[in-house]
Amino acid sequence: MSNAQNERVTALDLSAILSLMLNVAQQAGDLVLTMQAAGLEKIASKSNQIDLVTEADLASEQLIHDELQKHYPSFGFWGEESNQAQDSDYFWVVDPIDGTTNFANGIPYFAINIALNHGPTTLLGVTHELPARNLFFAQLGHGAYQRTPSGDLQMRVNKVEKLSQAFLTTGFPYHRTDYEDNNLAEFGYFLTRTQGIRCMGSAAMDLVNVARGITSGYWEGWLGPWDAAPGVLMVREAGGEVTDYLGRAWQLTSKSLIASNGQPSLQSALVTGVQQARQNLKSIKLPASELT
Ligand code: IPD
Ligand code: CA
Ligand code: CA
Repeated sequence: MSNAQNERVTALDLSAILSLMLNVAQQAGDLVLTMQAAGLEKIASKSNQIDLVTEADLASEQLIHDELQKHYPSFGFWGEESNQAQDSDYFWVVDPIDGTTNFANGIPYFAINIALNHGPTTLLGVTHELPARNLFFAQLGHGAYQRTPSGDLQMRVNKVEKLSQAFLTTGFPYHRTDYEDNNLAEFGYFLTRTQGIRCMGSAAMDLVNVARGITSGYWEGWLGPWDAAPGVLMVREAGGEVTDYLGRAWQLTSKSLIASNGQPSLQSALVTGVQQARQNLKSIKLPASELT
């Protein structure tokens, strides 16, 4: 970041913005849980039949948009459902429900994601785990925390070094039914070389779990910025590392992601493993920018 950019960031009251983000994430959480309890009426599909959107996704995004814009009208808004990429200086990056398939089927594991970006840099990130109502957050340069009734608990990654001792998570893209490049090769590679792999259906929580040291790593392709922005900041602030499949620092525009506890041997085993697993794929769906 340039000095001029730095001055503008410090001119903002980031702790007040963080409080607002936490508050809005809680309001959105209450809304989607209430709607779920009342019964979901409209479950539609997006990119294909298995990519779901419910009326609660749309209502949550509207609430988050309206509340944030009320306080910071000049900031842009990049939400998954409205999906207007932003080029304004400051913008919000929002997943109104991460884990919609869990939500729609009544599996109690989904989340709300809100990040504040200054250009490519994520300054603040909040993940609200539902229905447990756990709040996780990070501020660039100030650490990653879980808010609890007895105070904010700092999150730290674990110290597992070996792939054979690593407990991992992953997720599969919605295009998995149509393309061979669908994470099955990578999954097969790691399944026989690690302590275990879970696929729990929320990328937001997959990243939080690396940040809080429950898991040692997580990989997935074709994520949107809204899936990853808050959790990537949390992993990095908790001492971990996040790259793309080639081992380059993850950015908002990256289409592949490998997060780990930052132990160099583990991060490099994850990058090498993904590359090896992908070697025999006959058709590649990742963009050229992610391949070299
Ligand atoms: C999805 C979840 C899932 C991951 C998918 C995401 P959504 O988000 O995070 O765990 O595997 O790639 O798209 O659609 O529920 O917001
Ligand atoms: Ca998502
Ligand atoms: Ca979503």
